[in-house]
Amino acid sequence: MGTFIRNAWYVAAWSKEVGRQYLTRRILGEPVLMYRKEDGSPVALLDRCPHKLAPLSLGELKGDIVECGYHGLQFDCSGTCVRVPGQPQIPPAAQVKSFPLVERYNAVWIWMGEEALANPDDIVEVERYRMPGWDLIDGQYLHFKSNYLNITDNLVDPAHTTYVHKNTIGNAAGENVTVKVEQGEQHVLAYRWIENAEPIPLAKKMGDFKGLTDRWQYYYLLMPSISYVDFGTVDAGVERNEENKNRGLRSFSYNFLTPETENTTHYFWLHVRNYQTGKPDIDADVTKLMTLTFEEDMAILAAVQQAQEETGVREYVRLGIDNAPARIRKMVDKRIAAEQLAAESNVPITRAELQVAG
Ligand code: FES
Ligand SMILES: [Fe+2]
Repeated sequence: MGTFIRNAWYVAAWSKEVGRQYLTRRILGEPVLMYRKEDGSPVALLDRCPHKLAPLSLGELKGDIVECGYHGLQFDCSGTCVRVPGQPQIPPAAQVKSFPLVERYNAVWIWMGEEALANPDDIVEVERYRMPGWDLIDGQYLHFKSNYLNITDNLVDPAHTTYVHKNTIGNAAGENVTVKVEQGEQHVLAYRWIENAEPIPLAKKMGDFKGLTDRWQYYYLLMPSISYVDFGTVDAGVERNEENKNRGLRSFSYNFLTPETENTTHYFWLHVRNYQTGKPDIDADVTKLMTLTFEEDMAILAAVQQAQEETGVREYVRLGIDNAPARIRKMVDKRIAAEQLAAESNVPITRAELQVAG
């Protein structure tokens, strides 16, 4: 079990990464092997032969059949052993775990928990996805040398943008603006408006603001580790409603965190925006800027992770800005505890228990 929520959909890969060559990726600490069947549908198996534990990815894909590279055991897409060279009987334990997959938003989503609970309707909905007037950048990936909860801390923490991102998405105007927090069944929201402020570097570059601006940062964290940020700028003083926000410079930034190990995380991201649309060179600019922004987080979080490993301590001081991160950790802990209890008592976890909030 360990310290991950298993009964949830995680992005395992972008669709473009999964093909007829094996793709291997560690997910929630487990080695996963992915490929596409001849009919194009994706498959995920535990990358571990049940015989001598050789990684199956060292062997060959024969049609849709996975052949171990050590003694040639063959498995079908469900992980059932279909051939043992040199003996007619197939031992019942010769079975590889397979994982449910769903393809959505150009991504392959994996379910590492109880198979019976895997419901594709639970996959998060992406705002304005492929809607007219909104441009999409997707297929982006970064590897964070950080525990995923340090990243979720960061993603509901608008206060850090002033310091970590002063060259990209923050400026000094945000320094003393308090962050408000709201909590729902399955999410935590940290948000603030920064009023009468100089436009941030991004807004100066992409927008056409003549004077001061109001800007908003709404940081949502959905269980277990999906972040989306509704982020935008309007002229100072305009009424705060959806219509005006959509007329301003607005974007939705999605970060799908998939724990790799206790200390490392896969960071898949996509971005939807309403400004400078239909311009591939602007897409490239925004991709570069977002990558730069996330790399700023990557650097500080890797350093934080290292210091935490050295000291065995996560934080010595708790501040007001830690309210939202603390709520997420509480929700996550509760879900993990429910899953562990179910595993120990051998009573399968129910869908209702999956909805437990903090
Ligand atoms: S280790 Fe895979 S067949 Fe022996
Ligand atoms: Fe950040």
